[in-house]
Amino acid sequence: MTRQINGDDLREQVAGELLRSRARSTALTDAVDEHDLVRQHSKLMSPLVWDLAHIGNQEELWLVRDVGGREPVRSDIDEYYDAFKFSRSVRPELPLLNPKEARQYVGDVRGKVFDVLEKVPLQGRRLVENGFAFGMIVQHEQQHDETMLATHQLRTGEPVLHAPLPPGGNLVPATETFIPGGPFEMGTSDEPWALDNERPAHAVHVDSFFIDTTPVTNGEYAEFILAGGYDDRRLWTDDGWEHRTNAKLVAPRFWQREEHSFVRTAFGVTEPIVPDEPVVHVCFHEAQAYATWAKKRLPTEAEWEKAARFDTAAGRTRRYPWGDEEPAEQHANLNQRHLRPAPVGAYPAGASPAGVHQLIGDVWEWTSSDFGPYPGFEVFPYREYSEVFFGPDYKVLRGGSFGTDKSAIRATFRNWDYPIRRQIFAGFRCARDA
Ligand SMILES: [Fe+2]
Repeated sequence: MTRQINGDDLREQVAGELLRSRARSTALTDAVDEHDLVRQHSKLMSPLVWDLAHIGNQEELWLVRDVGGREPVRSDIDEYYDAFKFSRSVRPELPLLNPKEARQYVGDVRGKVFDVLEKVPLQGRRLVENGFAFGMIVQHEQQHDETMLATHQLRTGEPVLHAPLPPGGNLVPATETFIPGGPFEMGTSDEPWALDNERPAHAVHVDSFFIDTTPVTNGEYAEFILAGGYDDRRLWTDDGWEHRTNAKLVAPRFWQREEHSFVRTAFGVTEPIVPDEPVVHVCFHEAQAYATWAKKRLPTEAEWEKAARFDTAAGRTRRYPWGDEEPAEQHANLNQRHLRPAPVGAYPAGASPAGVHQLIGDVWEWTSSDFGPYPGFEVFPYREYSEVFFGPDYKVLRGGSFGTDKSAIRATFRNWDYPIRRQIFAGFRCARDA
């Protein structure tokens, strides 16, 4: 989003983003039959039809009822689509809307939302300023689309999603780069659609460190496995070892070992791993063990953001690694344009001033940091967006994946998950003390 957008331009931009997110939700749910929409592909995920109606329900709560002050479309279903009321594992047993009803419902809500968008003043109330509530709902839908993409990855059966291959890799001049110590501005106070946990902008001192110029690749990760990394207790934390043992981890999720090589299955297609593609579907503990094996560590969240945004020569923090302009095709592997991470060096135009590649897009990157509030954090607009998740249970992930939409990623954007999660499109890069 550009920082200040007014009147008709803003309404037009919001409408475009609403249409783009809906086209994606529709494609992800139309790709499978009724049975695949209502069934649970994994205990970790909701049925796809739940995500669809939940997208509509959140949109109704915020844009139809709150922003628009209109009558409910369907107040009888709120509780079934409240993510805090019923966990993912029990959602299939709820009296959910069937696929036809869910499609009808999200369409009815959207019709009212376009009417609200036309009529409501986009000022005078913080919730609507710069179209924030609409932006929040666009991001919410795109985030659920990424979740639905993860459900597609867990689904078994013939491939139903198709996309062109990402651009080819290029040689990246150095494997790591030095980031000089000193303060930088972390977070944001002026990005109109930034969420509460990204705010406010604040100065953070970061000691000098080195960070890898690319995410860790399949080839590098395979070396760690073949070197016995999963069996070497010394590489794992206590929690990590316990989890690796209980969950019997031996390789990234969706990998199969064949003697000394590996194949992986992605969206129904099984093929040999591509050595120079970033590794994906590893949990925090696996990332941490790899980093220890490589005699490095995971970056902190502040280190990641400094490497992504800080322009040492200019002494200023950028919006994105490549500058202030919106992500375009040459910058990053986003928007589900491709169904896999791109090989390292595929996006030289997206590198940060320090020469760090592929920070945005490709794979979410685990950091060593717990999810917590920035100094001066204020809940907005509701506690359940971020605040209830703050604490040591969740680790922060940065940068977005190939399945993240550009509206739902910024260099300040913070994602969080349990350190054992592997169904998300997460990889990592390493750092080390200078
Ligand atoms: Fe949600």
